[in-house]
Amino acid sequence: MAASEIVSTEPATGAVLWRQEIGDVDGEVAAARASWADWASRPIAFRIETLRRYANVVRQKADTFADLIARETGKPLWEARSEIDAVIGKVDISVTAYSERTGQRRVDAPMNTRLALRHKPHGVLAVLGPYNFPAHLPNGHIVPALLAGNAVVFKPSEKTPASGAFLIECLHAAGVPAGCARLLIGGPDEGKALAGHDGIDGLLFTGSARTGIALNRAFAAKPEKILALEMGGNNPIVVWDTPDLYSAAVLVVQSAFTTAGQRCTAARRLIVDQELYAPLIGEISKLIGRLIIGEPHADPAPFMGPVIDNDTADLLTESFLELTFLGGKPIRHMERPIEGRPFVTPAMIDMTDAREKPDVELFGPILQVVRAATFEDAIAEANNTRYGLSASLVSQNPKLYDQFWANVRAGIVNWNRPTNGASSTAPFGGIGWSGNHRPSAYYAADYCAYPVVSSEAEQARVSIGIGLRDG
Ligand code: NAD
Ligand code: SIN
Repeated sequence: MAASEIVSTEPATGAVLWRQEIGDVDGEVAAARASWADWASRPIAFRIETLRRYANVVRQKADTFADLIARETGKPLWEARSEIDAVIGKVDISVTAYSERTGQRRVDAPMNTRLALRHKPHGVLAVLGPYNFPAHLPNGHIVPALLAGNAVVFKPSEKTPASGAFLIECLHAAGVPAGCARLLIGGPDEGKALAGHDGIDGLLFTGSARTGIALNRAFAAKPEKILALEMGGNNPIVVWDTPDLYSAAVLVVQSAFTTAGQRCTAARRLIVDQELYAPLIGEISKLIGRLIIGEPHADPAPFMGPVIDNDTADLLTESFLELTFLGGKPIRHMERPIEGRPFVTPAMIDMTDAREKPDVELFGPILQVVRAATFEDAIAEANNTRYGLSASLVSQNPKLYDQFWANVRAGIVNWNRPTNGASSTAPFGGIGWSGNHRPSAYYAADYCAYPVVSSEAEQARVSIGIGLRDG
């Protein structure tokens, strides 16, 4: 029998946090359809003011919201607080992006004609969210979508529904009409039903490549609907020509293990000059040994918490084992320090001589290491993936960075910075299996409205100058 409710449990403790009946897809879409036109007809100043009020509501409830996110995802409280800061910051960033990228402008046109460029909302947009940033990432679609005059139907991940519900409550408390911001509780089945619903005008998705590709297929026969896909990565970090191996180790640890590796931009692969391999791995291992892994509210504060659930932890430990079957040599095994709970320790494995290096995203703290003989080999290895989200070079040599930047295939290419921690003030997206060329964050404005170009004159003063017989 199909489940009739979604139950959210705290990864760190297993305690039930929240439960709610599965929602009604048709009902949520109908409510949004009935409301969006009125919202779209309001002046932009009204929508900006309403969303600024929303930022204030979130500010007032920041402690409660951060506590909820920390409990529901297992991420440390300090990290959940920074997620709330990102949610608040998104409003002003989206206001600027809206006017810069999708506002109104006069365009020069020949013969004293006036060409006006304006943008219109699509209508009702579905938003499907992942569990790793249950507020910040859907918020990154929802705020620009509402600002542009759309209504949204938001289905949070079935693993983090409470955080999604809280976000929608904040929007309503700020005065966003209830019909314009709908919450749909459910899992993949409801996601599929929402994505296939005739009443939506588009879908803004953040999640795995597996789901994104299925959605892309489903939308192939619907060119009239906008589809924005933000998917995963198999991201490389390359360490080359640097004497500062401690800093390199810090960057690798931050890239691979922040949020227990549950970031789309997390480094999955470390590619290192074979001469630096032994001392670098030594530095990384020392740092890993010092990382505090604990429940979100622990004191002292942990570096990372558990992964999202026991199934995920099991999958990660099995995946690590499979890498060893393929010829990988374990550097640090993945352990489960607390029985029955999904805490896992950061793991490393040398895949240089493996028979096969599976190009899959292992969404957790597993770092695969490859030794390279030349920098060209390192770049080729970095590009040895269907994904293309983020890539970092750690090096003190600017010429190497120029070469890396020119040749590595990714939407985010960093230098002496982690692969993760992307800024909301810049576009965010990748190539290959990481997205469908509709980057989010600052460029989210682009997929939330479509351009309308109008050639305009106040009077119809026209004539046919050529090819007309005397009349
Ligand atoms: P997921 O793909 O399993 O689920 C994402 C959402 O889609 C959920 O709401 C889920 O219920 C829904 N869904 C699942 N199957 C569906 C289907 N067949 N049809 C319609 N909806 C469906 O992803 P996840 O495990 O929640 O999140 C982790 C993934 O998200 C990782 O791959 C990570 O890299 C990716 N991610 C990407 C970004 C980005 O911006 N590029 C950011 C964060 C996370
Ligand atoms: C993510 O969206 O999963 C991570 C964003 C980042 O840290 O770059």
